[in-house]
Amino acid sequence: MSGRRGGERWSPPLRRRRPGPDWAAQTPTWRQARPALIADALKRASARPSGNWFVVGASRDVRAGGRPFGRTVGGVEVVLWRSADGGLRAGPGICPHLGAPLRDSRVVCGTLVCHWHGLALDGSPSAGWRPFPVHDDGVLVWVRLDEVGGEEPGERPAVPARPATGRGVDAVFTTVGRCEPQDVVANRLDPWHGSWFHPYSFVDLTVVREPTGGEDDAFVVDVSFRVAGRLVVPVRAEFTAPGPRTVVMRITDGEGATSVVETHATPLTGRDHARPRTAVVEAVVAFSDRPGFALARAAAPVLRPLMRRTAGRLWHDDLAYAERRWTLRSTGRFPG
Ligand code: FES
Ligand SMILES: [Fe+2]
Repeated sequence: MSGRRGGERWSPPLRRRRPGPDWAAQTPTWRQARPALIADALKRASARPSGNWFVVGASRDVRAGGRPFGRTVGGVEVVLWRSADGGLRAGPGICPHLGAPLRDSRVVCGTLVCHWHGLALDGSPSAGWRPFPVHDDGVLVWVRLDEVGGEEPGERPAVPARPATGRGVDAVFTTVGRCEPQDVVANRLDPWHGSWFHPYSFVDLTVVREPTGGEDDAFVVDVSFRVAGRLVVPVRAEFTAPGPRTVVMRITDGEGATSVVETHATPLTGRDHARPRTAVVEAVVAFSDRPGFALARAAAPVLRPLMRRTAGRLWHDDLAYAERRWTLRSTGRFPG
């Protein structure tokens, strides 16, 4: 029965790539990767409204009945936890009484109890503490910080379209670098570096359409993901920057169409900090309409660490570049 299902011929997602040019013999992309084009795409992304919403982490990082989750965003300490019914609560992470770190406090029956003198917070305003608007999109959690964002507040964050809830396998990977969000976004708005800088993951990369700044402000890229040796998965992918700190890669054709990789760059330090730090929160929501994908969903707890490891290797290299970009920028040595 293997190889066939319901009478339809089953085609394997993997292709064996014909032996191609080796790394140094591939077509150079530096002439197409014009610095001005990347800078313009970054400028347009930076001008899009965020409504002051910031991604703080994975939904599953904030567990019901678990410890509170703490994160500093734009220099503001934030604490998140879940109420007894699983609803998300968020607010300043500094206890309004004498400043204890609420991230180290305890959640008792959905109430955050300060471990210093027992101030209890149920998520509503109390003792000078005011909650922050918070949103759980099922994969990521977002907090609205109007002081940090400084934009017109938005009712909801702009959550990218994803495969329907429960139909994809999602994994969230977080890492932190010494740079600003724009360095992370700029790196993502240069798809041309893929098969040169990450030959272990990407081969045969061609940018088939560049963003124009119009309605459809996207890069369209044909690329093969390298699975092992010469085994690859060819896809067409689209890169867009729907907000100032987010780049979305969506597979539009080929295996796993509609799957998305969302890269969110969240500033940890305040504006103009001398040593800025940025968290990269990357959500992968993979989907396939293959019958076997139901099995993959069942195996999600096993797949997740694997997906995170793949993202981890890419981001180890990309973050090194983002950090370098910041260092060069901040010392006036960035080319151009
Ligand atoms: S510092 Fe939190 S209750 Fe006193
Ligand atoms: Fe990269």
